[in-house]
Amino acid sequence: MERVRREAERDFPAVADRPGLDALYARDLARKGRIAVLFDQLAGLEPAARRTTGQLLNELKQHVTALHAAAATRVASPRSTHRGLDPTLPGRPHWLARPHVLSQVVDEIVEIFKGLGFGVADGPEIELDRYNFEALNFPADHPARDLQDTFYVDDAVLLRTQTSPMQVRILQRQPAPVRVIVPGRVFRNEALDATHAAEFNQVEGLYVDAHVSMVDLKATVTYFLRQLFGPRTAARFKPHFFPFTEPSVDVDMWFEAGGKSGWIEIMGAGMVHPNVFAAAGLDPETTTGFAFGLGVERVAMLRHGIGDIRAFLENDVRFLSQF
Ligand code: FA5
Repeated sequence: MERVRREAERDFPAVADRPGLDALYARDLARKGRIAVLFDQLAGLEPAARRTTGQLLNELKQHVTALHAAAATRVASPRSTHRGLDPTLPGRPHWLARPHVLSQVVDEIVEIFKGLGFGVADGPEIELDRYNFEALNFPADHPARDLQDTFYVDDAVLLRTQTSPMQVRILQRQPAPVRVIVPGRVFRNEALDATHAAEFNQVEGLYVDAHVSMVDLKATVTYFLRQLFGPRTAARFKPHFFPFTEPSVDVDMWFEAGGKSGWIEIMGAGMVHPNVFAAAGLDPETTTGFAFGLGVERVAMLRHGIGDIRAFLENDVRFLSQF
């Protein structure tokens, strides 16, 4: 009995697989195993010795049965059948995806304009010079082109510097009245700093109908800014020049973030120039409209107090996961 116990305590915890375990079971616990043989030998003992030895044998059988059960559980677990996979290691965290902060801001902007009855359109990032400049009243030698130098594919094809080319594309295919916004990416050969990127996003707005005036422009832009930034939003309209609007304005907002403060320009706007209507095949005498182009990064910086525009494209998860 002592030898059976010793060997069972040595062998069951060490067994590595099912066949090995089955062999140990056959040796110790099966009907013809060593414990059964010991039980058979009880018959030859005196009645008193038979009782005490029988009790010890029962305890041994229970003990070895428990050793077998523990070994069976261990052998059945994937840790020993799938080598190299340890299910007891801590799991890898799940990354929950979400829209980039700029996409979130574009969605907010789109929702506000949808509430004003504007539709949404999409345009090409690789654009013809004709739409990006010519049709917008920038002749080939116009100095205003210098403010929007960009990346050229060839003389006629470039990466668009603004979403404004969609003004003409839309007016060519859709009769007035037109109420549309165009979110999209634009590109400029720009000196980079905290508020200037070479690749950024704009949302163009275009409203064309009979009798549209500067009052409609100011009211729409002010309503939009107050929806986005709250009813006491401070904005200012400054006279400006764009070849494709007349009169033209720049809209600034008060900005405080990252230890910086001041007016930051967030959009250009104006009344659509008659030459743009003519380029789109419309009668400039009877058609009126306003347009604006706002910088999404600048709006997102104001909205979330972000001090440097470069953070948007760096893909630092510590930054992005805040939004
Ligand atoms: C334009 O791009 C005009 N297309 C806007 C417009 C549309 C005027 C319709 C009239 C009618 P501007 O170059 O100012 O204008 O750029 C518009 C906005 O884009 C700016 O107010 C600013 O918010 C943003 N922006 C301009 N340059 C950069 C830059 N390098 N990095 C980030 N944002 C910029």
